[in-house]
Amino acid sequence: MAVRHGVLSLVLLAVVLVVRVESGKNWALVVAGAKDYNNYFSQACSCHAYDTLRNNSIPKENIVYMSYDDVANDPENPVKGNIVNVAGGPNLYPGCKADYRKEEVTPEVFLKVLTGDKEGVKKLIGRDGKVIASGPDDHVFVYMIDHGGPGIFCFPGFVPLHNTDLNNAFKQMHREKRYKEMVVYLEACESGSMFEGILPKDIDIYAISSANAHESGWMCCYDTFRQVYVGSYFGNGWAYNTDTANLHKETLYQQYELMKKACNASGTVSHPTQYGNLSMNSEVLAQYQAKAEGYQPGVCVSTLEEVDNTLRSEFSFADIDLNNPAIDMVPIATAARRLIESRDLSGEKREELKAELRHMMLVKEKAESLTKDLVKAALFSPRGLTERDILAGKERVFNSECYKTALSLFSARCPGIDMGKYPFARRNLQAFINLCNHQPQTDVMNAILEVTEKYGICRAL
Ligand SMILES: *[C@@H]1O[C@H](CO)[C@@H](O)[C@H](O)[C@H]1NC(C)=O
Ligand SMILES: *[C@@H]1O[C@H](CO)[C@@H](O)[C@H](O)[C@H]1NC(C)=O
Ligand SMILES: *[C@@H]1O[C@H](CO)[C@@H](O)[C@H](O)[C@H]1NC(C)=O
Repeated sequence: MAVRHGVLSLVLLAVVLVVRVESGKNWALVVAGAKDYNNYFSQACSCHAYDTLRNNSIPKENIVYMSYDDVANDPENPVKGNIVNVAGGPNLYPGCKADYRKEEVTPEVFLKVLTGDKEGVKKLIGRDGKVIASGPDDHVFVYMIDHGGPGIFCFPGFVPLHNTDLNNAFKQMHREKRYKEMVVYLEACESGSMFEGILPKDIDIYAISSANAHESGWMCCYDTFRQVYVGSYFGNGWAYNTDTANLHKETLYQQYELMKKACNASGTVSHPTQYGNLSMNSEVLAQYQAKAEGYQPGVCVSTLEEVDNTLRSEFSFADIDLNNPAIDMVPIATAARRLIESRDLSGEKREELKAELRHMMLVKEKAESLTKDLVKAALFSPRGLTERDILAGKERVFNSECYKTALSLFSARCPGIDMGKYPFARRNLQAFINLCNHQPQTDVMNAILEVTEKYGICRAL
């Protein structure tokens, strides 16, 4: 009996060893890239992620949360100090305290935090701040959510983090042995463009983007009481799955498969994509999203199925699906829904919303025609490509310097098409990338100067 018991224990031990997560510390960095009440989803999904990671016993001192943190107490929020991630869901806000708020949420601070550069953070913000102080045995998990754009992930107010800078930071961390392995979940429109062809496969980093390099992500979960979209397919999908799964059994690959399913709902599809070292697919979630000891699976808040049950009927405005709009259409979709659904709006409020919608549609149209004119102007001596090639091309960023300069110049010269306020205008940025890949930088800059001068909308605020 004792012998059999011993054999059984050995077998059990072997099983336990297989799924046991490695030693070393867990670190996590969670980033909300958007501000304003309209962009509720960004702070809701990130707050949920922070809450979940904390509940899964990743210690507070090992998690850094960056969020502009204006949504919970925004005047438009009908429940102050409250953030939900699904209509009727629990208040997540008390659990998530941002380590960097308001103007501190920038790409520069983010890169210093990620690379564990405490001095660098202090230089930037004038105070000590928490950083990912990880070492060679540690596992790092990063979750970021925002509107995005081709080759960029934006911080509050359209301050872009470029894919080149993000990947250089990864490479630096690898050289400095700042992690054993790292997993990055990045949620934004065109989020694949942050990794595609640029994240090395041999630096022990594994990434999942919520959409491929050329498509939008999708929103879910409109809350008629709060009058905003409170969640997204990818963000809600992974966090609710993590809340309910056995993290010592479920693998990164299994969660990836679930994300693909979650992002293929209601006829709107984005394609979550994997990058980096795909051998890491077989690792269990607990390795990244929970500390090895002390974690109890099964804290259930809500399920993906509940998320899925949101209104399904045909409901659109200007070809935008108002139940599941593309992430970058959120400002238009939100205004349209408020106008359509709120019976008790005053006449004045109604006119205000109509004017706001009209203006956004105008910005959208002007941003498109401006881009066409910009391409024409920049191609006055074409280097082999036609206007059509540039406008339709889906190239990667090969000239990051030019793209960076072009974005700054455009933002400075055309505040009327503020891509923080009007994320849908970012769809045109692919043409900037293509131009920068083929034309001399001076031609691109001169074209920006020329067309922004011509377009009155650039000066409309
Ligand atoms: C975290 O735990 C608290 C306390 O048990 C709970 O109220 C909250 O809903 C949990 N959050 C998540 C996201 O599971
Ligand atoms: C990928 O990760 C696996 C598992 O951690 C590791 O054994 C392998 O060497 C890595 N591959 C490369 C190319 O770095
Ligand atoms: C999305 O789901 C539909 C129906 O389940 C399926 O036929 C289709 O192949 C899926 N598309 C993708 C890209 O996974």
